Amino acid sequence: MSTTTTPPLQIVQGPLAAHAHARLVAAIPATQRCDYEYATPFEIVHFDTDLRDAGVPIRRWIIGDANDPLATAFCFRATWNTPRHTFWGHVRVRPGAMGLGYGSTLVHAIEQWAATAGAQAVRVMAHPEPQHSGFLSKVGYTNIGTEQVYRLALADALIPTRPDATNISIMTLAEYMRREPDAIEQACMLHAAISLDVPMPDEPVVTLSKFRRLLGEEVDPKCFLVAISGGMLVGESILMESESEQGVMWQHATGVLPAFRGYGIATSLKREAIRLAQSLNTRELRTWMETSNAAIVRINQEFGFTKFAGEGTTVHIYEHLIKHGVANRY
Ligand SMILES: CC(C)(COP(=O)(O)OP(=O)(O)OC[C@H]1O[C@@H](n2cnc3c(N)ncnc32)[C@H](O)[C@@H]1OP(=O)(O)O)[C@@H](O)C(=O)NCCC(=O)NCCS
Repeated sequence: MSTTTTPPLQIVQGPLAAHAHARLVAAIPATQRCDYEYATPFEIVHFDTDLRDAGVPIRRWIIGDANDPLATAFCFRATWNTPRHTFWGHVRVRPGAMGLGYGSTLVHAIEQWAATAGAQAVRVMAHPEPQHSGFLSKVGYTNIGTEQVYRLALADALIPTRPDATNISIMTLAEYMRREPDAIEQACMLHAAISLDVPMPDEPVVTLSKFRRLLGEEVDPKCFLVAISGGMLVGESILMESESEQGVMWQHATGVLPAFRGYGIATSLKREAIRLAQSLNTRELRTWMETSNAAIVRINQEFGFTKFAGEGTTVHIYEHLIKHGVANRY
């Protein structure tokens, strides 16, 4: 007689969680990964440690063997500009293990835990493949937004009619570091404030040590533009070379502090970013845009950015409200 056993759901943390989650993420193409999904244990340990140190609840689960998990999930309280009590969840099932109920089990675990950690809503992101939308609608999630890549061929860049912001100067962080001894601390504070407001921050928690690491590893201060008003940093925009395509740069974290918005500062930052990219022999700029972010949509359209419909360039955001504890849906 043969029996089939369902592998247990385990709560995991630390190096074991990082190892298991990284294994599953590394097995899928980069274009199919979601935000906050990392392919190395190192990045996952840093991500979790930063959230825990900031007092943000986070939990990870696996189904199956940690060396080759069938499915993984994680959930943490959103730290940025979402409605209060919003948590961010993620479920990943290994392609060969889909349709066996692991996804529903993990969504259920996420919601149960999130409710006890104070959640009223859970958001997840998913690529537009029908199996994802089908699964998410089955477990009660509604599509509430879209993140989309936009592109601008620099040879076709348009000049917005709006004048440049007055009384501000724009320079690279490298230049600012030569002038100000505490430039990195100031830029970190700016980046942390902007990260609270972007729809999907690259880093949910910005710490000084992480910011220094970012500048040492991924971001070149010569490609980090800052806007200065009255001696204070008030806006930023970061350019990063594409890892896979020559002549392409990604524009990240264009943002202006709330008290300085509406004066044309973001437009000036974009204009300067285009000049900088052109001086670095860039042919194309790309940027992720939340399609309901009216201000940045308008600015990008003025410069001539258009939707880029390549693989992995559209991601939908879904939400489920947890109004009565865990809904009895499973
Ligand atoms: C988006 C953002 C960078 C704009 O900065 P800003 O310095 O205020 O931008 P500018 O002054 O150059 O231009 C803003 C334009 O958007 C328009 N705008 C602002 N809110 C708008 C809205 N809700 N609907 C339509 N247009 C809007 C403004 O009217 C202005 O255009 P106008 O001068 O023709 O009136 C700023 O709002 C911000 O930092 N937001 C949070 C971070 C973010 O979302 N960044 C983008 C994603 S990474």
